[in-house]
Amino acid sequence: MSQDCTFVIFGATGNLSQIKFMPALYHLDRAGKLTHGMRIIACGRRDWTTQSCVEKVRAWVSKKARGQLDQKTLERFCGRIEYFNGDLDDPTMYGRLSEHLQEQRHHNVAYYMAIKPQDFGAVVDQLSAHTLLDETTGWRRVVIEKPFGYDLESAQALQARVRRRLEERQVFRIDHYLAKGMVQNVLVFRFANLLMEPLWNRNFIDHVQITHSETLGIGTRGRYYNESGALRDMIQSHLLQLLTLIAMEPPVSMGAEELRDEKVKVLKSIRPLREAEVADHTHRAQYTAGEIDEAPVCGYLEEDSIPGDSATETYAALKVYIDNWRWRGVPFYLRTGKRLKKSRSMISICFKELPQTFFKAAGANAGTRNWLVLGIQPEACLKLEMTVKEPGLEMHTRTASLDAGFLDEEEGTSDAYEDLLLDVIEGDQSLFLRWDEVEWAWRIVEPILRAWAADRSALDTYAAGSWGAVKSRRLFDDKNFRWRHSIQAIDEAGDE
Ligand code: BG6
Repeated sequence: MSQDCTFVIFGATGNLSQIKFMPALYHLDRAGKLTHGMRIIACGRRDWTTQSCVEKVRAWVSKKARGQLDQKTLERFCGRIEYFNGDLDDPTMYGRLSEHLQEQRHHNVAYYMAIKPQDFGAVVDQLSAHTLLDETTGWRRVVIEKPFGYDLESAQALQARVRRRLEERQVFRIDHYLAKGMVQNVLVFRFANLLMEPLWNRNFIDHVQITHSETLGIGTRGRYYNESGALRDMIQSHLLQLLTLIAMEPPVSMGAEELRDEKVKVLKSIRPLREAEVADHTHRAQYTAGEIDEAPVCGYLEEDSIPGDSATETYAALKVYIDNWRWRGVPFYLRTGKRLKKSRSMISICFKELPQTFFKAAGANAGTRNWLVLGIQPEACLKLEMTVKEPGLEMHTRTASLDAGFLDEEEGTSDAYEDLLLDVIEGDQSLFLRWDEVEWAWRIVEPILRAWAADRSALDTYAAGSWGAVKSRRLFDDKNFRWRHSIQAIDEAGDE
């Protein structure tokens, strides 16, 4: 059972609170993970009361609840909520909040920043100035959503500000991807099984592909997205994190520091790109009008609040090398895009060619390589592709897949935010980003950001509903390879 604590949520009336924070806490309540004394102070600028806020939360939760809505839990959950009216830009708000927390004897407090990233630093300063970070009566933690900075320099500036007010153990930088069930399973798969370890290196692995594709466009987030683009939005954060989990050495233990030490070592080992090399190692593109699920959709430049001459990439692909003993020479290909044909996240690991092919005459599959596919979403699965003999008198082969899918049909998944919020309460930082991880991830993408900003002409296009920029295939060291889009066994080296 977790400890009594209070979540103070800044930006409580916004989208993140509606779709993630409140539903996640309701689910934790339903799972019996919240103590009787756990409270939520929902801070917002809107002229709401606790009663009107609770009405809203009821509606948000009802919309997002998994399975049958549990009315009893919902009532208990709503009873935890209090609305606190105030403007983040108004310094008197923090004084009122401080008095309120003292009067009501809230001992352990987590501040959750569901606000504009530009406000993170100022809010932390104000919290400190009004003794809201003082730990005399209990712990104080701050939960910060991504993006942590806009580039290396701004991330360092934000960190300098945060460090003045908080110790690292108090800072919970969210990368919600790390709490996805299958992402956590990567560690279990690697470090609770002996089978793969001897093969997990440059001697047996040809290359690794890490993909996050979405059919969704930018929705109502046009202003944020146009500043950010696919490289910052997905690769600097989520996809580089996936790469660290695949590439890291076994840690000394599964403790938060030991785990993150190993992840940082991977990031530090990524071969830095010189600006002149960026064009050969990256590809970027923007979607034009097309069709998703047979319905027409507009191009990026026609989206709301996107300037007609925007050069922001909605598709980014990148090749990196990890210069260490285990991985030297193995390319890791990372790719992400909006408005692609399917929504899918997966890691595909392609093994090397056989030293000799005995069954050449046995059909097209005989020389097929082994692939290991880790499906993250929508299917959470783990498949190892092998070549087997087809039944019958002839010596024909085909690809079969050993499937270690880890979810039974009745087993439900939880949302990543549930794990994360529970970890905040329990003070477990393993699934949160330590500052050096964030900094190294920015270092990796920094030359790309600079080269892309300096040359807008290399922006390619792709039709919405396609698999993205076909020309990004040029990144593959071996020209026979292609992006792998499917978790199903394939008979070719790619399935474009
Ligand atoms: C977010 C990005 O961090 O991750 C979004 O800002 C993206 O643009 C999202 O859509 C993807 O995560 P998920 O869990 O929704 O697949």
